[in-house]
Amino acid sequence: MKFGYFDDKKREYIIKTPKTPLPWINYLGSEDFFTLVSNTAGGYSFYKDARLRRITRYRYNASPLDQDGFHIYLKAAGEVWNIAWQPVQTDVNSYCCRHGLGYTVFESEKKGILATQEMLVPRGEACLLCRITVANVGEEKKKVDVFPYTEFCLWDAMDDASNFQRNFSTGEVEVTADTIYHKTEYRERRDHYAFLWANRTPDAFDTARDAFIGIYGSPAKPAAVFGSGCTGSIAHGWAPVGAMQFSLDLLPGQTESIILMLGYIENPEDEKWESSGVINKERAVAMQQRYDSDKKFFAAREELADFWSSLLSNFTLSCEDEHVSRMVNIWNQYQCMVTFNMSRSASYFESGMGRGMGFRDSCQDLLGFVHMIPERARERILDIAATQFPDGSAYHQYQPLTKKGNMAVGSGFNDDPLWLIAGTDAYIRETGDYSILDEQVAFDCDASLAQPLMEHLRRSFNYTVEHLGPHQLPLIGRADWNDCLNLNCFSEHPGESFQVTGPSEGPVAESVFIAGMFVKYGRAYAELCSHLGLIEEAEASLAHVEKMEKTVLDAGWDGEWFRRAYDAFGQPVGSKECEEGKIFIEPQGMCVMAGIGKESGEAEKAMQSVKEHLDTRYGIVLLQPAYTNYYLNLGEISSYPPGYKENAGIFCHNNPWIVCAEAVLGHGNRAFEVYRRTCPSYLEDISEIHRTEPYVYPQMIAGKDAPTHGEAKNSWLTGTAAWTLLSITQAILGVVPTLDGLKIDPCLPSDWKGFAVSRRYRGAVYNITVDNAAGAEYGVKELFVNGQPLAGNVIPPAPAGETVEVKVIMG
Ligand code: BGC
Ligand code: NOJ
Repeated sequence: MKFGYFDDKKREYIIKTPKTPLPWINYLGSEDFFTLVSNTAGGYSFYKDARLRRITRYRYNASPLDQDGFHIYLKAAGEVWNIAWQPVQTDVNSYCCRHGLGYTVFESEKKGILATQEMLVPRGEACLLCRITVANVGEEKKKVDVFPYTEFCLWDAMDDASNFQRNFSTGEVEVTADTIYHKTEYRERRDHYAFLWANRTPDAFDTARDAFIGIYGSPAKPAAVFGSGCTGSIAHGWAPVGAMQFSLDLLPGQTESIILMLGYIENPEDEKWESSGVINKERAVAMQQRYDSDKKFFAAREELADFWSSLLSNFTLSCEDEHVSRMVNIWNQYQCMVTFNMSRSASYFESGMGRGMGFRDSCQDLLGFVHMIPERARERILDIAATQFPDGSAYHQYQPLTKKGNMAVGSGFNDDPLWLIAGTDAYIRETGDYSILDEQVAFDCDASLAQPLMEHLRRSFNYTVEHLGPHQLPLIGRADWNDCLNLNCFSEHPGESFQVTGPSEGPVAESVFIAGMFVKYGRAYAELCSHLGLIEEAEASLAHVEKMEKTVLDAGWDGEWFRRAYDAFGQPVGSKECEEGKIFIEPQGMCVMAGIGKESGEAEKAMQSVKEHLDTRYGIVLLQPAYTNYYLNLGEISSYPPGYKENAGIFCHNNPWIVCAEAVLGHGNRAFEVYRRTCPSYLEDISEIHRTEPYVYPQMIAGKDAPTHGEAKNSWLTGTAAWTLLSITQAILGVVPTLDGLKIDPCLPSDWKGFAVSRRYRGAVYNITVDNAAGAEYGVKELFVNGQPLAGNVIPPAPAGETVEVKVIMG
């Protein structure tokens, strides 16, 4: 069942009912100020850091669900409703929510009143704008009361949700004719405040939640709205809120608009006060004046649209399949940008109070956004590398605000170092900018230890070489990509973190997955060395890679597929010898992507085994058979009920690895089949089963062992975004940036007649048309650049500013 539809022209998803299977959200903002907004206007805002600078309050895991947000109540003819349905939940005659790129618009009609609520974060500003229109579409004069309402958070979201003995006494506000200022703690150590402003003077306001909602009231039945209006309350402690009331008289056909702003201001220490106890509002007023008319709002809206058009114009596809087109051209790229902004911090499944930026997560996210924002990717790589330890290992996470490694999680995730090579390699292939390798970058955030970035990559490479176990496979440490395969943890006590309990470095447990990574990204490292003229190092590195390849085919091969690991007792994990967990997806994907066993047949066999044992109609599960017991020697993976998360869930992140692996073998039909199964747009028709947004990827879909097979969770913030974009654009469509230029190497479903891609690459634009009249799955027969035949399929980079016409004939 569908709950809405795609409007590809407008690049929107339009939701036709507020009663979606879960809140379906959008992200507003792409620099410092962010708002999450659901299809019923739930959500919250923060500045830079979702934990430390939370502007509005949100209660996760609440029942009723998703009641905190930026709500507009309407009251007319004795009835109360919300433009976006929540929290009052009064039925309206018509409702729609349009989630677009960086904006969301609600529209609903009731009692002859047509109202809209349009929300966006303007470029370069620390504020949320919300423009409301209220139109009398009836025959008679109408009186309508409009009440915007949002609840302020006392800045540190974690403290706000727990330290009530203090926080119930600290809240402070200041009110002017058109603005409610939230200034808790500004008197003491803070230099920032937030505010709710309107471009017309409200008739009344409230700043104390108890007054607006009522002590025993609820956002679904606010005392002020259902009673006789706002009371002019001033919050002293407790819960400061921003609530206003506008009383409008509308003639038939008349429309009124109100622009609201939720703003955030920082003042220099010596400019904090206007007079004793009165905050300096200069910057706030200036910001308000920049958006005090419809005209200015529309200009901000246009600037935002231009921004997104320009970002998405770096890669555009036209093909026969509307699902693929809309994912590639719009939503998959959009999701990649959201993962750039948020990493894994704030979604409707990540509270914004937990994880910082993941070392491996951020390196992988980069694969999905480097073609849109190469300069910011560069900066990101340098930030990440600065948290690396001198021995090449890495902090598993770092904090976005301080850019410092996170001690609480520490290090010991032995795949981390190699992801730095993966990310840097992707950046250089995209940009050709080798100068990044000369940048001096700190180790462990200590500038006195700085070395060129190339030295960081070298230490990443060597870390693996120097940490091998009994089979000469890489030691796994606390975990590799699979955070839940904790072979050195042995946790017996509830509540212990599987990731940090036990020794970080077991001398025995090994990972075949890291071995596959080492072959893939070790080879990329060797290639970088040769491009830099480091011929000896390139050869020595390749020798290590080749040795590892042999080791994988020996100790890592199980007969029908690649093994997953060896545990702390030297016993295989992911082998037919195991009772449960006989086969895992990760080493099949990574080893075949690395080309291991391509010539000798193991790669083919591994892919067949994936199909035979791990396929389901909704995607490929992570392992089989699912673990039914908790195994001390395996850790968190066996803590999940069968079919969920890492225990045989469909972990979307590694499905595209299989797409890429199948493409390595030239299997275009199978590659596309795997791509299609988890592609959200294809799943729109079964939204009642899938439940999360049909426009973005979730982290996980319940596997075949789960009672809720097909149900997705953890939408938005997942490495799936980057890897699926890579799998469709590079493995299937075959538009691959290399160190030497743009390679065209499609691996297509044989019934595709062709496609066209426009790709901006190193400043030039490549208009590529691929003709597959031959019905091939793989193989470029002829390639013409500006009408001239080219030997091979790597197009040397054209000068910036040029347009290059590329024609490719498959066969
Ligand atoms: C989840 C993993 C995640 C890890 C992060 C686990 O509970 O299942 O997906 O990577 O937490 O710490
Ligand atoms: C989510 C984590 O963010 C990611 O780093 C990890 O690879 C996967 N879970 C699998 O455990």
